[in-house]
Amino acid sequence: MTSAFAVSSPSPASIGLSLAALGREHRTVFDDHMGALLVLRHKDVSAGLRDHARFGTQFYAASPLVASMMIAHDGTEHSRQRRVHNRFFSPGASRRYEELITPIAERTFEALQGKDHAELIEEALARYPMEVFLALLGIPNDLGDQGLAWVRAIVTWLGSPMDPELAGPGEQAFRELSAYAGTLIEAERKAPGENLLGEIIRAHLAENEFSVEACTVAVVSLLLGGLETTIQMLSATLSSLLLNPEALARVAKDPGLRDAALDEAFRWANPSAGLYRLVKADTEIAGAEVTAGSMVYLCIAAAHFDEDAYPDPGTFDLDRRGSGHLGFGLGPHYCVGAPLARIETRAALKALFDRFPGVHLTEPLSFRYGARGFVQHGTEALPVRLT
Ligand code: HEM
Repeated sequence: MTSAFAVSSPSPASIGLSLAALGREHRTVFDDHMGALLVLRHKDVSAGLRDHARFGTQFYAASPLVASMMIAHDGTEHSRQRRVHNRFFSPGASRRYEELITPIAERTFEALQGKDHAELIEEALARYPMEVFLALLGIPNDLGDQGLAWVRAIVTWLGSPMDPELAGPGEQAFRELSAYAGTLIEAERKAPGENLLGEIIRAHLAENEFSVEACTVAVVSLLLGGLETTIQMLSATLSSLLLNPEALARVAKDPGLRDAALDEAFRWANPSAGLYRLVKADTEIAGAEVTAGSMVYLCIAAAHFDEDAYPDPGTFDLDRRGSGHLGFGLGPHYCVGAPLARIETRAALKALFDRFPGVHLTEPLSFRYGARGFVQHGTEALPVRLT
């Protein structure tokens, strides 16, 4: 069963619709190519994500780069690191981030003023999250595209860890990025500022966990977790609205609908098909026996189109209420950067639609895995007319 992952489609929802159709027939399916049991129904996917006692994330530690990051840990070690991380995204800290992010979003879309047409991913979205990180971390702009190049080399390698051609550049990028982050932390430690780097240092000090190494791991983990995901999610959110012009018209007129648009886009067009988990001991999931050491794939795309959780799931519906989406995960590893991702997406929607309320697509889109060299599912381009 590989077809749903291999297909390219004009709609981001196609992959989820075909996986959910499979899920109506079978609660689980073994995928030879992925070497994992696919869990397809919303109820089972949610239960698997919540259940850390049975389904863990230690497999991430197979990559030495990620071994010390909290995503690779469960239980006490994860809780310890997570407590520190939660401090970076307190409501007060997030408010300060919003003040920094809003002008960056404005600048990003202002650059399109005067143009008739644009390709939104290349001309706006691809650099915006990195600029946000540079500002939040207080990194001088002279780093230019180097930061993004490091992160892409690392993420590309992590996406295919067995590929020897990617390992060299990935490891080198990791060393360089870590050394760069370490220098910043040592400098900031003398007088931690009101930015994310200052917050990271303060949070580690408050929990008696400060060391340059621990802060470096946190910075690198945030960059790895929050850069490509955000570019892809911004692209998915805008795609969802551009492909659903009635919803777009409502959102452009009523800013109060932006959060609903964001959440529905996270369901309808989520770039992640699912999350792997390592089975910790012989057990069952969704009625299937699984053995210790095997992998399950909790299929978010299928869950997002499960009719039992979302009536009429193929429709992009701004008025949908009820089951939240699983786009940020669920349970102990629920995305720690979700508040930041929301601020970035909201600011981008506002900056784009305030300027170009009549923006619309000029060509059909094409969604597939690996578009633009990204690890996830997305569109190659977002060609629009700016009006
Ligand atoms: C819209 C963009 C984003 C999406 C769709 C997203 C998605 C996710 C998902 C699905 C997980 C759970 C992974 C798992 O359970 O295996 C996760 C965890 C995580 N995310 Fe995000 N993320 C986004 C943005 C960010 C940002 C901006 C940051 C950093 C500032 C970030 C940092 C992290 C970290 C560090 C974890 C691991 C949390 C833990 O292990 O407790 N993410 N993210």
